[in-house]
Amino acid sequence: MNTLTQSASWKSLWQHYSQIKNAHMKDMFKFDKARHQRFSINFEDMLFDFSKNRISKETLARLVDLAIEANLKSQIEAMFRGKNINTTEQRAALHGALRLNSSDVLMYRGQDINRDVQAELNRIEQLSEQLHAGEKLGFTGRPITDVVNIGIGGSDLGPKFVVSALKQYRQSNLNFHFISNVDPSQFNDVMEALNPATTLFIIASKSFTTQETMTNAQAAKEWFLAFVKQKRFMKKHFVAVSTNREEVIHFGISPINMFSFWDWVGGRYSLWSSIGLSIVLAIGMKNFNALRQGAKVMDDHFRYTPFAQNIPVIMGLLGVWYNNFFGFKTHAILPYNHRLDLLPQYLQQLEMESNGKSVTKTGGKIGYSTGPILWGSQGINGQHAFFQLLHQGSQTIPADFIACVLPESRQFEQQEVMLSNFVAQTEALMKGRSKEETIRLLRTKGLKEEDISAKLPHMIFDGNKPTNSILFRELTPRNLGMLIAMYEHKTFVQGVIWNINSFDQFGVELGKSLAKDVLSNFKMQKPSNLHDSSTTALIESCMHYLRSENNAQSG
Ligand code: F6P
Repeated sequence: MNTLTQSASWKSLWQHYSQIKNAHMKDMFKFDKARHQRFSINFEDMLFDFSKNRISKETLARLVDLAIEANLKSQIEAMFRGKNINTTEQRAALHGALRLNSSDVLMYRGQDINRDVQAELNRIEQLSEQLHAGEKLGFTGRPITDVVNIGIGGSDLGPKFVVSALKQYRQSNLNFHFISNVDPSQFNDVMEALNPATTLFIIASKSFTTQETMTNAQAAKEWFLAFVKQKRFMKKHFVAVSTNREEVIHFGISPINMFSFWDWVGGRYSLWSSIGLSIVLAIGMKNFNALRQGAKVMDDHFRYTPFAQNIPVIMGLLGVWYNNFFGFKTHAILPYNHRLDLLPQYLQQLEMESNGKSVTKTGGKIGYSTGPILWGSQGINGQHAFFQLLHQGSQTIPADFIACVLPESRQFEQQEVMLSNFVAQTEALMKGRSKEETIRLLRTKGLKEEDISAKLPHMIFDGNKPTNSILFRELTPRNLGMLIAMYEHKTFVQGVIWNINSFDQFGVELGKSLAKDVLSNFKMQKPSNLHDSSTTALIESCMHYLRSENNAQSG
């Protein structure tokens, strides 16, 4: 039996759902002039407007009851206090500790972990200052000009997203490159313009055993040594970020060039740790601290604000409302900001790797829907591509619209065009356009009545499509820190409600281990007899083309 679906608050939500499911938001706004005020929160430099959702005061109250019944408050405390909430791996999930002030103390396993955090930050700051001053020299004595982060998943997405989002805050002329794909094309594209004498590689991997990262790291080492010939110069050009000291040394990077972090930092929550090295090198420690402070402000809001005014709690609960009651299975992330281009990708790992699970914390099979499919891209481009489906498709897709009001340049005219679209789209999705309104519109255009009848069904918009509007004054490191932490905590809230462990990721392992088997088949030039006929045929096809290409090259 699933306790969640048997809980009083769950049953009461179902009852409430049957009363509210057909209500139109257009009417809710019409009959409640204070709706925006009632369902929006101003927090620091941010407006979180959730009034365009299919909820009433009562919905919110019942959702809050659900959070209370799930013991969310004590779970939040357990996370921030470093309890082993990642039960399958017997670890804490202490990304909150990475955002503490330097003088704070947080005891975990008998020691103040903030001291370790601050010590690593200091080492990172030193390297960043050397680089920015042009004092970090390559093996020929020339200053480093290019930084290449080699990592994947959380060891790539977070740093890549933040470095790109905060381009405006760059503190140096260093160029940044990210390699995650083991497809050699990406490696070659990055390397073709680089000079080994002026390139610094960051090998970023929590485990330092991830196949793609280690393959690319090896390729980088070979590329470097092919030019430089002497291994001793690696120390000027390779640094590692990892929890696995032994493997770092084994790879050939000295511990002096290693930046550590800890098992209580999950990969997808790691950009605040040494994994954020490339971020610090790009924007400097002052801005990185502002990013961390933004996250800390959101941590405190999440930890201490009553649920009905708590942004991540509300976001999480709305997601549950749509996923489990309305049956809306995907959620769109739509930034109206060029610098937030990589946000959807970043959040895909955060949410889908955290909550894409089908068993409870204690291993029971789950009988309800958990993490939805998260997707999205720049809203303004989406308007000319997939928004048709958002407006008139047969499924409803709740969406987060995210914008920053002030442009980084003074080009207000362009910015106003973008912001007007940001605002208008949520209005259109909410209101829709009724049959009567559409007829009126077509008549004002002078269409004949028979043309109106033919066009009419295609031009009606049902509306009632839920959106959150998340509006910042401007894109700063602090605001970005708030935004990211907000989504981290939203993800946590949903994990608590669904009773799943949001901090493990066993679902990625089967594919990884089978890939190793298939690779060994390639090496032996023979598929093992353990595969099905499709897999065998695919292996044979790959081998066929690889072999004929090899023969052609050697012949
Ligand atoms: O395969 C999934 C995963 O383990 C992610 O959780 C993680 O962020 C990524 O791989 C990279 O792992 P690592 O930092 O250990 O190389």
